Amino acid sequence: MPRFSRRSFLHLSAAASAVAAFHGMSEPMLAAAARRRPHAKDAVLIDSNENPLGPCQGARDAVSAIIPQGGRYSDNLTDDLVTTFAQQEGLNPEYIYCTPGSTPPLSLSVLAFTSPQKSYVTADPCFETGMNMAAIAGARVVKVPLAKNYAHDVKAMLAAGPDAGVFYICNPNNPTGTLTSHSDIEYLVGNKPKDSIVLIDEAYIHLSEAPSALDLVKAGKDVILLRTFSKVYGMAGLRCGFVIARPDLLEKVIARGGQNFMPTTAVAAAIASLKDSTLVPERRHINASIRQQTFQWLDRNGYSYIPSESNCFLLDTKRPGKEVRDAMAKENVLIGRVWPIMPTYVRITVGTQEEMERFQAAFQRAMKS
Ligand SMILES: Cc1ncc(COP(=O)(O)O)c(C=O)c1O
Repeated sequence: MPRFSRRSFLHLSAAASAVAAFHGMSEPMLAAAARRRPHAKDAVLIDSNENPLGPCQGARDAVSAIIPQGGRYSDNLTDDLVTTFAQQEGLNPEYIYCTPGSTPPLSLSVLAFTSPQKSYVTADPCFETGMNMAAIAGARVVKVPLAKNYAHDVKAMLAAGPDAGVFYICNPNNPTGTLTSHSDIEYLVGNKPKDSIVLIDEAYIHLSEAPSALDLVKAGKDVILLRTFSKVYGMAGLRCGFVIARPDLLEKVIARGGQNFMPTTAVAAAIASLKDSTLVPERRHINASIRQQTFQWLDRNGYSYIPSESNCFLLDTKRPGKEVRDAMAKENVLIGRVWPIMPTYVRITVGTQEEMERFQAAFQRAMKS
């Protein structure tokens, strides 16, 4: 039985009550901060790395079926989800805690392991939620540029963070969609300072062919791994994710304020999604083929981009990226934000075929304006 069920509320409540409520800035919040609202109903939304396919049919059916029981907390259902995932991945259920998406455990892990004395080491460009949390914790935020091949430069990260509390690895990386090899991640884990943790964010892992780093968790390393149902499973609005780590690490994360009941709709949909054995390969294939067609179109039209293994990529506009975002918004196509280290690049999410065709037409016009 997973140890963090309703019973663990009592166990952890003293620690939790001493902690202020924190809300991490998640991807849609970051996207919305840069987006004009309200947007038109028929706008193309390729700014938040969402999955336009939404939940699979089994998940939709499971949500409908659970609605009459919506008056119950049904925490046994969350135990079922954890057990299902544990069996599929060969994990001990005690290593898994279920959360509404992976933003909460990402934020709480950073709060638990960084401080004014313990820095946060991240790649640049990279997903910003952790660095924002580290700043709230009063930690030094160390940004290390990606290597030439756009992998995390783990040796440079180690050199830059002798005082690190957290090394954050996003694999595939957001926003570049590029991979960091398992051997580099192992090297980081093997050579990091004592008392630090490696926080591995696998939000997009199923969209690539990259191996997971779950083996490092199973081996009892100082690794906290995050998974979400928001990407390949198309459940961003339903909110479900996992934090996976040794129970002593998990307890520290959850003690920062992470315990709550899960929405039963999210849990029911997540169980159905995990049981659909065709979902991941099919969706990985759909995303890869639309991404490839988009890259071919960009090649034919002489635009530069960073090749990606995920559902987003960086496109070089050769001028201030913010201008292009604005021009695209006028075309009713909302594209992703710009990272300060690469000011001419904009992040594009891979949408449906039709959305990418509208993107192409709008991008041609925006680049001529
Ligand atoms: C790298 C990365 N990690 C975590 C998340 C969190 O997503 P959610 O809270 O929807 O699980 C996102 C969302 O886009 C992301 O890009």
